[in-house]
Amino acid sequence: MMTNIIDGKSIAAKLRSRIANEVESLKQQGIHPGLAVILVGDDPASQVYVRSKGKQTKEAGMNSFEYRLADNTPQEALLELISKLNQDNSVNGILVQLPLPRHIDEEAIINAIAPQKDVDGFHPINIGLLSTGGKATIPCTPLGCLMMLKDQLGDLSGLKAVVLGRSNIVGKPMASLLIKENCTVTIAHSKTTCIEDECRQADILIAAVGKPELVKENWIKPGATIIDVGINRIKDTENNSKLVGDVDFINVSKKSGAITPVPGGVGPMTIACLLLNTLTITLRQNN
Ligand code: GUN
Repeated sequence: MMTNIIDGKSIAAKLRSRIANEVESLKQQGIHPGLAVILVGDDPASQVYVRSKGKQTKEAGMNSFEYRLADNTPQEALLELISKLNQDNSVNGILVQLPLPRHIDEEAIINAIAPQKDVDGFHPINIGLLSTGGKATIPCTPLGCLMMLKDQLGDLSGLKAVVLGRSNIVGKPMASLLIKENCTVTIAHSKTTCIEDECRQADILIAAVGKPELVKENWIKPGATIIDVGINRIKDTENNSKLVGDVDFINVSKKSGAITPVPGGVGPMTIACLLLNTLTITLRQNN
């Protein structure tokens, strides 16, 4: 069976161009969307993500406000900055890049962001709204995964979906979104007995566990659609490393109906959805 490679890069580029057009017409009405991104510390991967977010925000015609704080920034100082941004009318969305240094309480920080400016959809109000089917801001990575699934499959009603991983950022909101799309959803995780058996039932498999190439060809139902959220850097040769997902792409793609590559799948969609969320919350704030 020839699998279809889901081109996240190209779907994201189309989405970004649609967003840029909408931003342009909003600006003609005197509304200029603005996104504030806060990075605490010097985690190399976070620095790459934050740089990319800032660049794409500007390319979409939005204002990008970047705050880079030292690793030893006190929690109080971060809370003060968030409070200032909550009250700043030129800032529509606030994102605090995770993970935070260990001395900072992540939950306290997320809770301090005004729910209407919570562009990540991590605030308990938005999580609650997503679970109850209300007007939530949907976390960017699951939203991007859902868009690729719909692009590939159209209506998802009645399909069996297995989500590998139960994180607050991906696994749990992904499951909520798939339930909303009328899928039958299983969340499998590190304590699930016989995880392979669960996966073999899946028409849709979302892998978000952060374990390089965990999902093997014999875990897959023939023709299944596979979304790989993992971004793992592994040693390639003595002096080189490479990025791989949570799925053994080369072998799984022999059996799947469609699959996202790493890189070039979920990653570009996550940032495009961040821009989409910034636009959506700007519109909500101006209505
Ligand atoms: N770290 C890894 N992914 C994310 C994300 O989607 N949002 C934030 N704020 N931090 C992250």
